[in-house]
Amino acid sequence: MSMKNRVKEAFQALDTYTPQSLKDTFIKLNITLEELQPYLKDPDDKPYYRQMIYEDDEVEMIVMNWADIDCAPHDHGHSTGWIQVMNGETKQTIYQAEGETLPLPLYTEFKEKGSLFFAPEGGIHKMGRKGEHDLVTLHLYSPPIRGMRVYDLETCAACVVSSDCGAWWPEEQRQLVQEIKLKKEMNKEEA
Ligand SMILES: [Fe+2]
Repeated sequence: MSMKNRVKEAFQALDTYTPQSLKDTFIKLNITLEELQPYLKDPDDKPYYRQMIYEDDEVEMIVMNWADIDCAPHDHGHSTGWIQVMNGETKQTIYQAEGETLPLPLYTEFKEKGSLFFAPEGGIHKMGRKGEHDLVTLHLYSPPIRGMRVYDLETCAACVVSSDCGAWWPEEQRQLVQEIKLKKEMNKEEA
């Protein structure tokens, strides 16, 4: 059976979409880099090339082929996610933000090939490639991401992007759903 059909059958058979059941299904699918190869294209000038592997009302699975550019800090709307590193190593920075404030970096960590890590609802992160090695990551989100917020820390702004846009400031106006001006978080002494 083709990888795409295997994925389709596995998700169509699911009746619960808890983080644990999604993780179990993801592991059981045992998707290889070789199977993803036909879906990897050149990212051009973007942080990654993204290709949808499967999508229904409850889940979406997307493969990302990374360039040597970090994505922008972003959330995943109201979705939770699992991210598997298919080769190379990824560098992930986790941010904290409250309401409409500028996200502040909390910590940076590295995830090697084979790692499967969780992206909680409302969490803000950015990812990139560590070193020169190619990086391919496979992402499973539930429900499919809608209303993803992308941050531009330099201009202290955020925007909600359309579902076909990756984690970068959109170049096309139609992908920019809403723009938000952020507040710089004030220190307690200044408040
Ligand atoms: Fe993400």
